[in-house]
Amino acid sequence: MFSSASNFTDNVDAVFLYITALSLIVLVGITVAMIYFVIRYSRKRNPVPTHVEENLALEVLWTAIPLVLFLSMFYFGWVGYKDMRNIPDNALQIKVTARMWQWSFEYPNGLKTDTLYVAAGMPVRTELHSTDVSHAFFIPAFRVKKDVYPNKVNDLWFQSDKVGRYDIACAEYCGLNHSGMYTAVHIMEPADFDAWYKATSAKAGLQPLLTAAVK
Ligand code: CUA
Repeated sequence: MFSSASNFTDNVDAVFLYITALSLIVLVGITVAMIYFVIRYSRKRNPVPTHVEENLALEVLWTAIPLVLFLSMFYFGWVGYKDMRNIPDNALQIKVTARMWQWSFEYPNGLKTDTLYVAAGMPVRTELHSTDVSHAFFIPAFRVKKDVYPNKVNDLWFQSDKVGRYDIACAEYCGLNHSGMYTAVHIMEPADFDAWYKATSAKAGLQPLLTAAVK
């Protein structure tokens, strides 16, 4: 299993690092070449303009190499995105509702909360609804983010094996208190989650429909 906050964290970080490193290499390469040519072909060193003949091999190379490098960015991004769209059938289904300016969560048995509680090792599918404007459901530590629209239902999934509390933010400007539109997801030991789910459901007069054994 994975040791970081979610099943997506390592991959997203690796792709991000890869793109940043590649961009840095290209930036340095272009800058150094530019400075070299500015000095080498300045009026002082090169008073009569040099006539540069074409060089097919060089032109093919400087087209092909960046093409392959930039397509590799697309490839790694695409592979990671496919994992994000490949939602496991056994995922816990949570209905998320965004409104100005708060989040609410509904479990399959009808239990409603304003903070998300799930078990470690449990895949979770969130179905995203908005009652008013556009918001964006964002769990930074899990590296997942998705727009939430009033007229279209999006979904997003994640799995975390690491017990803890993680911020949930709104990542789309949605009015006055957008910046305060935070809640949290608690990843709990499966036994703790079962106990919480049963007790909280009972308090609300609801039957718990699942246990953390869902896998
Ligand atoms: Cu909701 Cu920003």
